[in-house]
Amino acid sequence: MIFQSFLLLHLVGLVLFAGTTTADFVSFRQFWKQYALDAIAARPMLQSMIKFPLLMGLGMAAIILSGVGMMAMTHGVFGEQLWFRIKFAIVVLIILNNIIIGRRLVISLRKRMTEVTSEAGETLQIKHKLRLFHYAQLLMFFVIILLSVFKFN
Ligand code: HEM
Repeated sequence: MIFQSFLLLHLVGLVLFAGTTTADFVSFRQFWKQYALDAIAARPMLQSMIKFPLLMGLGMAAIILSGVGMMAMTHGVFGEQLWFRIKFAIVVLIILNNIIIGRRLVISLRKRMTEVTSEAGETLQIKHKLRLFHYAQLLMFFVIILLSVFKFN
């Protein structure tokens, strides 16, 4: 019963984190479309995404806490299996990608949006990097779910 509760929390955290990442991805696509038409009118759209990092943080906290709980209940048996080690490495990559790449890009984009004159070429670079960032996050999620379900060894 306790194990199932941890698994439930794990999946709720997964839905929250993966769902918010997808919403972030879709919202940015809309933002860039609007930005191409009218840069000033697009700015408030960034404001509507301001709570996404908090939701992602909550989702990841739930995933990690429940994952550690399940590991403790199974006496770390999964820790010795290859699929789990790969999964764990990808989890670390997802977190680092989020903090080092994603957050930084969004912060510099927000800063540019407050400037009166900003270099269009650099904004375009942020756009491409953000797209790559989202593709990488979604791909890594998919691989983690694949590994967790099939448990290849
Ligand atoms: C983005 C991060 C993660 C995702 C998307 C994810 C996804 C999943 C999914 C979909 C399952 C269900 C598998 C099933 O019931 O067949 C699962 C199970 C599990 N996960 Fe994760 N997980 C993540 C991170 C972690 C972390 C960080 C840990 C450990 C610290 C962990 C430990 C476990 C354990 C022990 C199970 C139970 C395996 C079983 O008994 O079937 N997970 N995970």
